[in-house]
Amino acid sequence: MANIIDGKKIAEQVHAETALEVASLARNHNIQPGLAVVLVGEDPASAVYVNMKSKKSLELGIYSDKRVLDKNSTQDQVLAVVHELNNDPRIHGILVQSPPPPQIDETAIVMAIRPEKDVDCFHPVNVGKMLNGETDGFYPCTPHGIMVLLEKSGIDPAGKHAVIIGRSNIVGKPMMALLVQKAKGANATVTVCHSRTPNIAEYTRQADILIAAIGKPEFVTADMVKQGAVVIDVGINRVADKNAPKGHKLVGDVKYAEVAEKASWITPVPGGVGPMTIAMLMHNAVKACKMQNGL
Ligand code: GUN
Repeated sequence: MANIIDGKKIAEQVHAETALEVASLARNHNIQPGLAVVLVGEDPASAVYVNMKSKKSLELGIYSDKRVLDKNSTQDQVLAVVHELNNDPRIHGILVQSPPPPQIDETAIVMAIRPEKDVDCFHPVNVGKMLNGETDGFYPCTPHGIMVLLEKSGIDPAGKHAVIIGRSNIVGKPMMALLVQKAKGANATVTVCHSRTPNIAEYTRQADILIAAIGKPEFVTADMVKQGAVVIDVGINRVADKNAPKGHKLVGDVKYAEVAEKASWITPVPGGVGPMTIAMLMHNAVKACKMQNGL
């Protein structure tokens, strides 16, 4: 039976470290980090995430500027908000919640964010820095959170075979870049599988560390997992459940109960990777503030 990687608990540890940094910036430098979160439209899940990010900022002593724009906003209207935040000295980090409504060109929005304020690590400058193993940019929140989960659970990826299912720009590709680095806490051999990979199970069964990030409910079953593997579940899928009070429940990309029988470590959903994403965002906001102040 697998050990559970408690993402909620580890995220709280990261938040405690962040709160100490915020306090030290205030005490020693009279500086307050500031994070802007921008939501375009009314997607209910996105609204929940943006509210959580804003609320957590305030809890940690980070200045929060939350902008909610109409779902019919034009590209120029969104760009105007980004430019305003780029030029606001109270703001060190800017996040535009993804995905925006279809009339918005997300790439152009990301390109408009000053790389120093790109706490999501979506801008090509920061993506490039991460790929090159440079540490003066940002790491994207979800893959970075997974690296911290591994580290704080005493799991060293060095020399291990990490298999990632999913090649998104938010998770799969940056996860590959972080795990393969010649760096402490990394040094894995990495395979990336995706929708065009035939016989995915042939790869996943070789994984010492298996990372599921495909957005398909309970896709990874026990027969796809090697005995003793570390299994990280990035999926957050809403599925109908007649017995749940709201008529639905959240499940990951991993069939948890049966995979937990075989794995050595596993992340639950919810309470695994999810809380780490916000923890690393707060960490990045403080890092952005320090770098912009030459600290
Ligand atoms: N949508 C889902 N995850 C993320 C994230 O990490 N950042 C942003 N901006 N949008 C998201």
